[in-house]
Amino acid sequence: MQRILILGATGQLGSELMRACGSRSSWGAKGLSHSDLEITNASAVRTALGEFRPWAVFNCAAYNQVETAETDPLPAFTLNSAAVAHLAAVCHELDILLVHFSSDHVFDGKSKIPYREEDPAFPLSSYGLSKLSGEQAIRLLHPRHCILRTCGVYGHARSPGAKLNFVEKILGKAGRGELLRVRDDLVCTPTAASELADAACQLLEKEAVGTFHATNTGSCTWLEFSREILRLAAVAGNVEPLELPDSPRIALRPPMSVLCTDKLAAHGVKMSSWKAALTSYILRRAT
Ligand SMILES: NC(=O)c1ccc[n+]([C@@H]2O[C@H](COP(=O)([O-])OP(=O)(O)OC[C@H]3O[C@@H](n4cnc5c(N)ncnc54)[C@H](OP(=O)(O)O)[C@@H]3O)[C@@H](O)[C@H]2O)c1
Repeated sequence: MQRILILGATGQLGSELMRACGSRSSWGAKGLSHSDLEITNASAVRTALGEFRPWAVFNCAAYNQVETAETDPLPAFTLNSAAVAHLAAVCHELDILLVHFSSDHVFDGKSKIPYREEDPAFPLSSYGLSKLSGEQAIRLLHPRHCILRTCGVYGHARSPGAKLNFVEKILGKAGRGELLRVRDDLVCTPTAASELADAACQLLEKEAVGTFHATNTGSCTWLEFSREILRLAAVAGNVEPLELPDSPRIALRPPMSVLCTDKLAAHGVKMSSWKAALTSYILRRAT
C-alpha cells in the first residue's frame, strides 16, 4: 500500500483528490484540512510528514485571493511561496514525491498561442508572483516534484475559508435576478476540479516529474463561460460585458492564459473539453 498525504484536503481540488486516490486500491490516502495542519507552521509540517511517511504528497493548500493579494501580498507569499519552499525541503529530506499545483497567472497573457510549460513566466499580479515563486522554490529544493499549472478551477466542495466558485457565483446572482457583468476580454480554459484530480493521479501513477499544464481543453472568455453555465443549468439571466473602466478590480490578469496540454497528452493523460466538463458538473449539481 502506497501512502499518500493530501494537504488542503477540504478544498475544491483536495476533496476530488480524496475521491480519486480512494478509488485506487493500491493507495492509502490521508487528507489533512487547514484545521488539521497549518502549512505555514514549519515544525507542524515536518512532524506530520515525518510521522505519516507518505510515498507522495499532494499540496492543494493555497492562498487564492487574487484581489486581496494585490493590496496585502504577505499572506499570499507566506503560503504560496515560503510554506511551499519549506514543504519541498522536507519532502527532499524524507524522499517524498511532491505534487503541487500552480496557476495560469504566472504568465503575462501576451501570447497569441497557448502557453507551453517552457515558455517564460512573467506574472502581472502579486498572486501570480507568489505562485511562480513557489514553483521556483520547489524546482531548486526538490527534484522529485510534479508541478501542475491549471486555470479557472471549479469543484463541488467549498472549504471554510474559500469563496464561492465562479459557477456557483454566476448561478447565485442569476437566481437572485441580479445583472451579471463579466469580463469578455480575458480568454482562459475553465477546469473541473474532478478532472484535474484524475489527471494528477494518473501522472503520479506514472511517477512523472517536472512541470505540466493540466486544464480542460478549448478556450472561452469568462463571459462565454457564464452564458454556458446559465444555458446548461437552464437558468435565465442577462450577462453583459464588464468593461475595464467600470471594473473596480485592481489585480492585473493575463488577457490570454490558455495553457497548451500537449505534454500532458504525451504522457497518456487526456482531459475533456471545458464544455463537457461543465456539463458533468451541472448534472452532478442537480442530483
Ligand atoms: N481556484 C482556481 O481557480 C485556481 C486556478 C489556478 C490554480 N489553482 C490552484 O489549484 C490549487 C487548488 O485550489 P482550490 O481551488 O482547490 O483551492 P481551495 O478550494 O481554496 O482550497 C484550498 C485549501 O487550502 C486550505 N488552506 C488555506 N490556507 C491554508 C494554510 N495556511 N494551511 C493549510 N491549509 C490551508 C484551505 O482551507 P480553509 O478554506 O479551511 O482555509 C482549502 O482547503 C491551488 O494551488 C491553487 O492555487 C486554483
